[in-house]
Amino acid sequence: MVAFMVNGKSTNVDAPNDTPLLWVIREHLKLTGTKFGCGAGLCGACTVHVEGVAVRSCQTELSQVAGKAVNTIESLSANGEHKLQKAWVAEQVPQCGYCQSGQIMQAATLLASNPKPSRAQIVEHMNGNICRCGTYGRIVKAIQRASKEA
Ligand code: FES
Ligand code: FES
Repeated sequence: MVAFMVNGKSTNVDAPNDTPLLWVIREHLKLTGTKFGCGAGLCGACTVHVEGVAVRSCQTELSQVAGKAVNTIESLSANGEHKLQKAWVAEQVPQCGYCQSGQIMQAATLLASNPKPSRAQIVEHMNGNICRCGTYGRIVKAIQRASKEA
């Protein structure tokens, strides 16, 4: 049994210590906004925050989050009012949408540490998040838009 916080609530999960956090989130906690892409740490679809840091949940074992705060895409805003969510809508970023929760979670850590990033800083920060639909240009625009709000 591993105890940790998810989206501000304490939880206990009864699963082997080496269970990928991604499956704990999706299967045990039924938070399905976090996606399985490659399962190998290569695409970023499974990105969540652990103690405010963007991590690949497919490469994070359950035991590594014991006593820590995990945040998923569901924690950003229930009503879509987070500035990144609004910017994503305004720039019509998603195509199929599959990679987008990981993209947004990755972007959120950039704005948390650097509220006014340059274009180059955005591109560098988002570099490891793959989008098969090629929405990269709109992702950059949306992060720039969000950085102007607030
Ligand atoms: S599913 Fe985790 S990085 Fe691709
Ligand atoms: S919107 Fe389809 S993979 Fe990114």
